[in-house]
Amino acid sequence: MLAAAIVAFGGPDVFALTEIPEPAGEVIDVTVAGVDDADVHRRRGAYRRPSLPAVLGTDVVGRRRSDGRRVAALLPAGGGYAQVAPARHTVDVPDAVSDEQALAVLEQGLTAWHSLHTLGRAGADDVVVVTAAAGGVGHLAVQLARAAGARVIGLASSPAEHAFLTGLGAHATVDANRPDLGAALGEAPTLVLDGVGGRTFEQVRAALAPFGRIVAYGGAGAVANTVAVDELMTASTGVLGFGLERVLDDEELYRSSAARLFHLAGRGLLTARIGGRYPLSAVGRAHADLESRRVPGKLLIDVHRLRLDAVHGVHLATTSSSSVSPVSVKPRER
Ligand SMILES: NC(=O)c1ccc[n+]([C@@H]2O[C@H](COP(=O)([O-])OP(=O)(O)OC[C@H]3O[C@@H](n4cnc5c(N)ncnc54)[C@H](OP(=O)(O)O)[C@@H]3O)[C@@H](O)[C@H]2O)c1
Repeated sequence: MLAAAIVAFGGPDVFALTEIPEPAGEVIDVTVAGVDDADVHRRRGAYRRPSLPAVLGTDVVGRRRSDGRRVAALLPAGGGYAQVAPARHTVDVPDAVSDEQALAVLEQGLTAWHSLHTLGRAGADDVVVVTAAAGGVGHLAVQLARAAGARVIGLASSPAEHAFLTGLGAHATVDANRPDLGAALGEAPTLVLDGVGGRTFEQVRAALAPFGRIVAYGGAGAVANTVAVDELMTASTGVLGFGLERVLDDEELYRSSAARLFHLAGRGLLTARIGGRYPLSAVGRAHADLESRRVPGKLLIDVHRLRLDAVHGVHLATTSSSSVSPVSVKPRER
């Protein structure tokens, strides 16, 4: 099978399109794979450094080979940027949900759902602030918070994104670049979902209403925060953290919440924004676009197209780096 593997840690040019053995055991013939922030950090060697060479990619949709069912899968250990991926943490995709929507709703939607509901306990009385509201998680959180009956305020950094969020049902939007974010909110949130961290986290946390809580699920700004417990006691507010792997630890929770998200997506009540589509040979370009924040929405690797190209004899180019040669990659550990 073909895979886009990294043979070194570094920039988007470290990918090479490579012929490697299929993973052992139950597998998925991949149709689309997702490109995520976590993949970028792993590519740089800054987060859960994989042993090299490695195939990154943590979410896929395709056909499970053993029964032909259309499934979505989450692969915390990677393996998604390939024609064939290990069948880990699979969930059935209903007919009413496209491959693209299933991919864009699964990881980001689970993060939004469990941050908002499982940890945040959102209700109709809440004023919910969503930072990074136009991002992959954030724009789904805006829709889910609105569906819960809450008042929703979205933070984003451009007028176009503000219009996008208003179209999704946000009651108000705030420029994420404002130096006085707390005051700019105009009202005290009872619940904040934060995917940015750093200054954003500090300022929106300080703006919380008494008894309010903030759920930190991400750090797009790459600045870590520490929290002083005595400050929490004085303000009478709470800080919670979300990590998707704790959902994956609980198969029943994972399957039931994924099925709920797919149900909403199938009925058109939850719609993910799709950004760019790239062939497997251009994973590096997708990474560059994600890092530059040029292309809003979920970035997809169209693996199926590669398969069609191969069937029709279209030449398969390697990635942009001429310094990286295709290598033979050992099958990944199971
Ligand atoms: N806890 C978990 O299990 C889990 C699961 C999924 C994702 N995450 C994390 O959650 C965060 C958001 O994920 P996502 O999928 O929503 O990402 P995304 O689609 O790339 O969106 C990130 C958003 O963050 C905002 N942002 C603010 N400062 C930024 C900066 N310095 N660099 C890049 N973006 C910045 C951007 O909005 P503006 O340009 O409008 O400011 C952008 O819309 C990431 O850190 C990701 O790793 C965690």
